Amino acid sequence: MQFVVMSGRSSIHSGFVLAWLLVLWLVIVWSAAICCCSSSAARNISPSNDVNVRCMEREKHALLQFKQRLVDDSNALASWESKEDCCKWRGIACDNQTGHVNVIRLDFYHDSSDFNYTPLRGEISPSLLELPYLYYLDLGFNDFSGTIPKFIGSLSRLKVLELGSNSFSGSIPPQLGNLSNLHTLDLSWNFVFTSENIEWVSQLSSLRYLNMSFLNFCRAVNWPQSISQLLSLIELRLISCDLPDVDMASLSFTNSSTSLQVFHLSGNFLISSSIFYWIGNVSRNLVSIGLSYNRIKGTIPDVFTNMDSLLTLDLSSNQLEGGIPKSFRSLCRLENLYLYSNNFSDRLEQSIGNLSCAQDTLKSLYLRDNLWWGSFPDDLTRFVSLEELHIDNAIMSGSLPESFQQLSQLRTLSLGHNRLSGSFPDVTGLALLSSIDLSYNQLNGSLHDSLGQLSSLARIDLSRNSLNVVLTEAHFLNLSKLQYVDVSYNPAFSFHVSLSWNPPFQLYDLKMASCKVGPAFPKWTLTQRELSTLDLSNAGISDSIPDNFWDLACSLPLLNLSINQIHGKFPNLSSRNCSIPSIDLRSNRFSGAVPPFHTNVGAVWLSKNKFSGDLSSICSTQAPELLILDLSDNLLSGELPNCWVQFQGLVALNLANNSFSGKIPSSFGSLKSLYQLQLQRNNFSGELPSLENCTELAFVDLGFNNLSGKIQAWIGSSLKKLLVLQLRSNHFSGSIPTSICSLPFIRVLDLSQNNISGALPHCLNNLTAFSSVSQEVDYLSYPSDFVLQLIWKGAETEYGKNFRYLRSIDISSNNLTGVIPENITYMLGLRSLNLSRNSLTGVIPEKFGQLEVLEVLDLSRNHLSGSIPDSFRNLHSIAVLNLSINNLSGRIPSSTQLLTFTESSFAGNVGLCGPQLTTKCRGDRSSEDPKVTGSTESGESENDSDGFITPGFYVGIGIGFLIGFVGVCLALPPETSWRYVQQCLRQR
Ligand SMILES: *[C@@H]1O[C@H](CO)[C@@H](O)[C@H](O)[C@H]1NC(C)=O
Ligand SMILES: *[C@@H]1O[C@H](CO)[C@@H](O)[C@H](O)[C@H]1NC(C)=O
Repeated sequence: MQFVVMSGRSSIHSGFVLAWLLVLWLVIVWSAAICCCSSSAARNISPSNDVNVRCMEREKHALLQFKQRLVDDSNALASWESKEDCCKWRGIACDNQTGHVNVIRLDFYHDSSDFNYTPLRGEISPSLLELPYLYYLDLGFNDFSGTIPKFIGSLSRLKVLELGSNSFSGSIPPQLGNLSNLHTLDLSWNFVFTSENIEWVSQLSSLRYLNMSFLNFCRAVNWPQSISQLLSLIELRLISCDLPDVDMASLSFTNSSTSLQVFHLSGNFLISSSIFYWIGNVSRNLVSIGLSYNRIKGTIPDVFTNMDSLLTLDLSSNQLEGGIPKSFRSLCRLENLYLYSNNFSDRLEQSIGNLSCAQDTLKSLYLRDNLWWGSFPDDLTRFVSLEELHIDNAIMSGSLPESFQQLSQLRTLSLGHNRLSGSFPDVTGLALLSSIDLSYNQLNGSLHDSLGQLSSLARIDLSRNSLNVVLTEAHFLNLSKLQYVDVSYNPAFSFHVSLSWNPPFQLYDLKMASCKVGPAFPKWTLTQRELSTLDLSNAGISDSIPDNFWDLACSLPLLNLSINQIHGKFPNLSSRNCSIPSIDLRSNRFSGAVPPFHTNVGAVWLSKNKFSGDLSSICSTQAPELLILDLSDNLLSGELPNCWVQFQGLVALNLANNSFSGKIPSSFGSLKSLYQLQLQRNNFSGELPSLENCTELAFVDLGFNNLSGKIQAWIGSSLKKLLVLQLRSNHFSGSIPTSICSLPFIRVLDLSQNNISGALPHCLNNLTAFSSVSQEVDYLSYPSDFVLQLIWKGAETEYGKNFRYLRSIDISSNNLTGVIPENITYMLGLRSLNLSRNSLTGVIPEKFGQLEVLEVLDLSRNHLSGSIPDSFRNLHSIAVLNLSINNLSGRIPSSTQLLTFTESSFAGNVGLCGPQLTTKCRGDRSSEDPKVTGSTESGESENDSDGFITPGFYVGIGIGFLIGFVGVCLALPPETSWRYVQQCLRQR
């Protein structure tokens, strides 16, 4: 998350997202594990018994003792009754000759179709030692806790021990190493932490299947030696065990198991590519290799020449470089290749060439998030079994080959974020294709009509291209399964469908931003009753909205109709049982009154419309979850109601550029979460109410109103997080309170055009953010699309993240008296200072030239006297300078920088001389100086000074960036999810 300041709601939300991601990860890993384990013979044992053999009393007694210590909330062991034959109990099997109990299988979780099934817990009784013939013990997927009992190491006949997915903790008892008959050991998914070593594993000489995934072995530095002694090993799973990196180049694996088929070490801390030499040495029987989510560096060594059984290779999320090596040419059975999220940077055609032997078998190819370059390889369309193709986020260029139709098995085509150009290819015959992502490319041609034949298509994303298409009903003809459409940001993409079109699909997501959808409102969207996303922003719509549209809109999480010419009224959603959290209708022609909000609304953007009247109606409902309210740039008027206690959640409030009048209501003081307050350009009058409890305020703009009274001391003493304070163009009076100097983060302080009198505080150098040139971000980390509008010399400039470079003080056009304090010269980070049009006296401080990053300086129209300090020569960054109309005298210091200014910067100072002025200093050569032009008398013209600074340095803050913030909270980027999940798991 980029944005750290903010309400608890966001963290709850991200917590939810995390939990969801965790569940997703568990599902994936489990289903993978279950899939693969079902091949293991051990799992197929089913309790079947000869009718004539009955269990022994002694063993039954032992089992009853075992049951006694269990907590069985679901009564799963109901059949364990002493009068019954224990060989017939649920989960028990006996030898059909001797009647000895030999199998205990209590992983009922798998059998259970009952969602309320509660796993077994309690204690594992040592009475199991009374079952000398037990060879199969499965307690997996229960909730046993505590350490794994040592006595299990004495069940010497055990062949299968499954304790996975429980809540065991502590370290693993090394006594398990005594189980020399064990061929299957599953301890995965427990809370076992930091076993110093796993040497006991090496004694399990019969072991074939070992799964200790999601246990923590971060201190087990000898793990490769221990594992490589298991000569019969077929499957090895040590996923997410925090295994430390070991340089295996010095180890010998020549004696290790040659029967190994499954080698899964994903999610550890492996760095060295020497791991490849181990797997290259061990077997030709390898079927599946997983080394993803490590940190393996370097190129893939050519060790794959003998692996002719390999079906699945997962090396994704490492730091591998180069390309697919030549030895992959012998992988002739490969079905799944995952190389995504590495640093590969090969010409894609070349790397694909090394997969040629897998041309008929490869089903899944994940290459995304690497720097593959060159064109999309024609050869790739010969991989006739290909089902999933992911090469997003690379730098492929050129157009897509015409031979796409050969990929008849293709289900997913994902090539977004590349530089592909040309048209969308002929996809006739790709009857299974269900997902297409070509977003963020440079496609500039048309869409082949065959698109309409993709009867399995559920998802298509063509956004951010330059497709030149008139989309007709034919393009959608057979797309009855379509659910997700994003064609936004294709400016030449238009829709030509009839008004009565009834599409064959029901969409969940429809995004048509910045396409040509209008001028009429697309009525066919009303047929889409399942929509959860609808983006029609900047779509050229200049219509009114059909009334029944709002019923559809009311269940959306976000309604975006911004930047159109939509007219008509905005209905009262509070009377429609509406639950829409975010409404963005910015830049339209909506008119009439602002209706009351529905209670669960989170954000309302209605700026740049024609809403009129006052806001009294909003008081009729409570909206405690409203975070953002933007009503700026409308025709609203009247006094503000005093009901803001009802909107306690507000983080950003923008009422700028309306005609509101009267006092700012006192209930603003209860907005404790308020971060951004914009009331500029209205007719508010009277004194400010106390906002001393609005301690989160960072951006305050009250400029261009008729506010009066003193600048209150609480601003400095309570609003400690202020970054921007704009009080420009009001009637504030009195002197500047010294508490202003204790605002540690403030960077834009604008008090200009008021009636402020008295002297400049002598403590301004305490404003920490100004005191150094360093540009560190302080307490706030900026949201990614933060935008600050700034009028600089009359032209609007947008500042994004570089906002933090701004450091400006403007107290011009007031009644300041006294001198410019000496210590202002210690504000080394100051970039703009405007003190013009006051009555300042005295001299310009001698060390002024220390302000080396100063770009704008206006001290004009004061009564400053003395000479311009010689240190002015050091103002290397100065771009705007005005010292005119003062009583300055003497020689203008000579520096190349100062020579770039003309007479108007210095005029109106009777005693000044220099090459910029007509008054040459004595001893200088007069005239013929090309810098001096015209014959201006004294520079006393009214316009010239205005031309420089005024309107000067006016900052308006875009509320827009908060959309970004809300967006971040709604959707954590999927790329980060894996590590988050891992961190969560670490914190178990
Ligand atoms: C007894 O079990 C063995 C293996 O468990 C099986 O091969 C055999 O058919 C069974 N005998 C009877 C009579 O069910
Ligand atoms: C601010 O909060 C304090 C403590 O809750 C309270 O006493 C005070 O009245 C509040 N001030 C304003 C202006 O609401």
